[in-house]
Amino acid sequence: MTKPPKPNASPDAALLESPAPEAPRSEAAEAPRKSRAARKTPVKSGAPMPDPVQVSLAISEAAKDASPLPVPTPTKAARKPRPAKAAVPSPAGPAQSEPAPTESAAPKAKPAPRKPKAPAAAPATPEVAQEEARPEPAAEPVPPEVPADAPTPPLSSEATLDPRDADTFAIRLERYRADLEGSLRSVYGAEQLVALWPRLEALLRRALAERPADLRRLDEARLLRPDWLQVPEMIGYVAYADRFAGTLEGVGEHLNYLEELGVKYLHLMPLLKPRVGENDGGYAVQDYRAVREDLGSMADLKALASRLRRRGISLELDLVMNHVAQEHGWAVRARAGEQKYRDYFLMFENRDLPDLYERTLPEIFPDFAPGNFTWNDEAQRWVWTTFNSYQWDLNWANPEVFLEFVDIILYLANQGVEIFRLDAIAFIWKRMWTDSQNQPEVHDLTRALRACARIVAPAVAFKAEAIVAPGDLIAYLGRRDHHGKVSDMAYHNSLMVQLWSSLASGNTRLFEQALSAFAPKPTNTTWGMYVRCHDDIGWAISDHDAGMAGTTGPGHRAFLSDFYSGEWPGSFARGQVFQANPRTGDRRISGTAASLAGLEAAQTEEDIDLALRRLRLLHAVTLGYGGVPLIYMGDELALLNDERYLDVPEHAQDNRWLHRPAMDWHKAEERFDVATSSGRMYAALQRLIRARRQLPHLHASIEAQIVPSPNEHTLLFRRDHPLGSMLAMYNFSPEFQPLPAPLLRAIVGDYPRDALSGHEWNLTNPEVALEPYGAYWLIEQTR
Ligand code: GLC
Repeated sequence: MTKPPKPNASPDAALLESPAPEAPRSEAAEAPRKSRAARKTPVKSGAPMPDPVQVSLAISEAAKDASPLPVPTPTKAARKPRPAKAAVPSPAGPAQSEPAPTESAAPKAKPAPRKPKAPAAAPATPEVAQEEARPEPAAEPVPPEVPADAPTPPLSSEATLDPRDADTFAIRLERYRADLEGSLRSVYGAEQLVALWPRLEALLRRALAERPADLRRLDEARLLRPDWLQVPEMIGYVAYADRFAGTLEGVGEHLNYLEELGVKYLHLMPLLKPRVGENDGGYAVQDYRAVREDLGSMADLKALASRLRRRGISLELDLVMNHVAQEHGWAVRARAGEQKYRDYFLMFENRDLPDLYERTLPEIFPDFAPGNFTWNDEAQRWVWTTFNSYQWDLNWANPEVFLEFVDIILYLANQGVEIFRLDAIAFIWKRMWTDSQNQPEVHDLTRALRACARIVAPAVAFKAEAIVAPGDLIAYLGRRDHHGKVSDMAYHNSLMVQLWSSLASGNTRLFEQALSAFAPKPTNTTWGMYVRCHDDIGWAISDHDAGMAGTTGPGHRAFLSDFYSGEWPGSFARGQVFQANPRTGDRRISGTAASLAGLEAAQTEEDIDLALRRLRLLHAVTLGYGGVPLIYMGDELALLNDERYLDVPEHAQDNRWLHRPAMDWHKAEERFDVATSSGRMYAALQRLIRARRQLPHLHASIEAQIVPSPNEHTLLFRRDHPLGSMLAMYNFSPEFQPLPAPLLRAIVGDYPRDALSGHEWNLTNPEVALEPYGAYWLIEQTR
């Protein structure tokens, strides 16, 4: 058996070999969870399925409740005999049987939704209308007939484009017209499209007229380099502005730090004006055109975006699309009874429809926000609230909501935002008898929004935050006629979950199974790769994949929760359970990467070394997969759990704050000291980043393919680039693991170079061994 050459005293070797001092430990003991009374009226549970009579009653109630869309009355010419639409999607008919059982217990990961059944001779419910509208996009797009007396767009003032801009606009509109029209027709129907179009066009024109010169220049550059997000140099960093540097101006003072790490894009966590008090970490936005006051102003944001841009760093912001804060102006006016704004939300006079929807809806925060509807006294309505009771879901079936978001996106793009993280995008379309996630309209709406962004601001990219079952994920990058036309990037949640799963089990069979089931992504898209983020980890592992890997879904998910909460005997992890759901058995996990990987629990030098090796391994997989690695602030220094969130009343109930520590600038100063665990982590990560930047093989247009490994502790990915092949090899166990050299040789030749250590390997021997938690990127040496 041939062992790979020992790494020399490179910075990376520091991680593997240098003696390290005692790892810093969190002093706070396990904090008791504070209980909080549910702020939503609990839903009725265990009710029998409705009989048809009840359902038809519910439908007629819905019909009373649903108001016509607040669109301008079309002219006679535009009035075609099409099914009516309503702002509130209503049930299409009685359920024929129980909803399909949930395959995965992870609440955000649901099996394919069941299509609603239309009742015989049903009235034209919105559901039916939507379904009928669907076949149309296949038809050749016809420019919509614009009524002569089209109403003045309230969202936008007319803008006159100079002849050059007018030409640019015309060219781009022509390019994206089919996407835009096809999607909008599919969602809203031909008649509404006609009414919508002139308003949309006016809005796009105005945004283009307002686009600043430096951003137009960026647009031109991006049009020449459409793969800018796919290149191996692309490294993302994710931080809360306040936790990183106090204010937006403060962030601007730490750009050298980011640049030194190789960061090319910075995702600043929610910073648009949130509601006061609890706001789900900023995901309850009160005003999309204002910045959180303690962080700075919109002018500061614009200034920061341009400082970043001058350094070649793109700014990403969250676009919270599924809901707004109940204090948002739209919600305030809806509560006050303005019908226009009532139609922006999903409001119900009684529990009939909410109860029906609840039958198939998951609960996202069962612990502190059970159910999906909240009673509002002022409006005297039940309001759809998928997340917290103060986050009001928007009614995307209303084209006014679409127009508002086009306007918001373009406004923010014109401030210099380059990437939009489409928050909770899977949830924006609701459909009775489904889990109201991943509905086809979600993708149509994304395609339409993207087309608008491409027309005005081609520099802009979308990243989908769709934490959904593996089978549903690929649609966010585009399937069939949406192929490559929706989001440019999507979080690879499945891979993140598998990283932690294999680390706990020391076995890669499930990882192989889950990843090989993934359809290839469109070649113009990329994955967002991450080890940890600001959210909990939900065990999105399907029962099928678990079965194929020789375990069971419920059993393995329970094991992972036990393991990462530290309850499993001998576990190295120190996480906490988030949102235990006794009904589904689901227990998600909070904790920083370092605490979950064993650094917090480490007692000895050997424990510290193992924890750091594990972390390096996880980062190596994410950096070596070919998507954009998204480094979560503090992970480059292996920051541990921070229990201080318990002292902050607005955070104390939500243990996701455990893994959102403030940046430790003292540790950052130690980053070149390889006697510290922060220094060793930093050196290892920096080395991985440098190696990645040199490897054209890691361009995201190339697909990473699983190579079934004969050793169940190791994971092999190959990437076949015109310059030669790359073989990434990872050992998920704390022991040396052998692999047969001929298998590797067949991919990367006799003497590949390991891009991580710089060493040449000799694969002419029969066998090689991978070090405990070892990571290797073997590159075929071609002449
Ligand atoms: C996303 C965010 C999460 C938030 C939720 C609701 O999943 O990542 O933090 O709670 O959306 O906005």
